[in-house]
Amino acid sequence: MSGGLQIPDARAGARVLAFGDYRPARIVTNDEIARTVDTDDEWIRTRVGIAERRIAGDDEGIVELGVHAGGKALAGSGLDPSDIDLVILATCSAESPMPGYAPQVAHRLGIDAPGAFDLNAACAGFCYALATASAAVRAGNARNVLVVGAEKMSQWIDWTDRSTCIIFADGAGAAVVAGSDSPGIGPVVWGSAGDKYDKIIIEDRHSFIRQEGQSVFRWATTAIAPVAAQACERAGIKPEELAAVVPHQANLRIIEAIARRLKAVNAVVADDIVQSGNTSGASIPLALSRMIERGDVPSGAPALLVGFGAGLSYAAQVIQIP
Ligand SMILES: CC(C)(COP(=O)(O)OP(=O)(O)OC[C@H]1O[C@@H](n2cnc3c(N)ncnc32)[C@H](O)[C@@H]1OP(=O)(O)O)[C@@H](O)C(=O)NCCC(=O)NCCS
Repeated sequence: MSGGLQIPDARAGARVLAFGDYRPARIVTNDEIARTVDTDDEWIRTRVGIAERRIAGDDEGIVELGVHAGGKALAGSGLDPSDIDLVILATCSAESPMPGYAPQVAHRLGIDAPGAFDLNAACAGFCYALATASAAVRAGNARNVLVVGAEKMSQWIDWTDRSTCIIFADGAGAAVVAGSDSPGIGPVVWGSAGDKYDKIIIEDRHSFIRQEGQSVFRWATTAIAPVAAQACERAGIKPEELAAVVPHQANLRIIEAIARRLKAVNAVVADDIVQSGNTSGASIPLALSRMIERGDVPSGAPALLVGFGAGLSYAAQVIQIP
């Protein structure tokens, strides 16, 4: 008798069928923040690049944000909820640590009993979740996966701290990942720098987000472009072939520095931070959804995604635009 196992549903590749996004209705401008803390519109635009951000209402938690974005991605994919076998929710701003939020998002979307778990890699969370979804599909562990990045950063912000309250915001983005005969999601390049764990941190349940802005800025503008370049190399794509570069929307100066160093001379560079602020694990699918909706990037073209932030954790991959 042979003890050999089989993997009946393994696939050669995985690809994104559709993205979805959700921005809470309430817009908070720089001028509105400047009425309560010592800052001004020009300082924020010049140093960070943000003009306004969205802040969720009291009745909108991680689940509601995730359901809105996940529902839109699911509708765009043309799949039925019963086609989804796994739901991964990337978040670092959950109201409580237990239970995870992915099972509730799945339930609210009518996805019956899928595998479901939350993933915390902070601002790199969406790229980690996308890589995990791709691996699950290729290994035959799921036919289709719903990946959601949902963040309510506003509930972890000290609204009297001008160094953080101008930056972080709320929102959600999502993607449906399916099996394919050729790869539409390239290899992930991921890593971390745990020695810098305290550079962006919420210390305990009574604390707010705190960061060492300058150290994070230096790290992001030096360490991340090589990671992005490596993701291109591993996917067999030259930076000049990229149609889009979608870095985590941390700070417009960081985004521009990464794109410049990567020399992606023909790419549209995501700048959703101007309107949406820094939404951590939601920022990449939010930005890319808007670029696709606007017609900035053609279907089938290669786009680089690169997430980085608290941990410190980072991840990058090249995908084909759905
Ligand atoms: C936070 C950040 C915008 C601050 O910009 P900076 O140019 O580094 O500013 P500094 O921290 O050196 O502060 C310079 C001065 O501006 C002041 N300042 C800070 N926030 C301010 C604000 N919102 N408005 C006006 N002044 C502000 C500081 O108090 C400091 O004043 P001082 O010189 O009198 O002490 C910038 O460091 C940054 O974006 N870092 C990366 C953070 C990030 O992206 N985090 C998320 C990663 S996922």
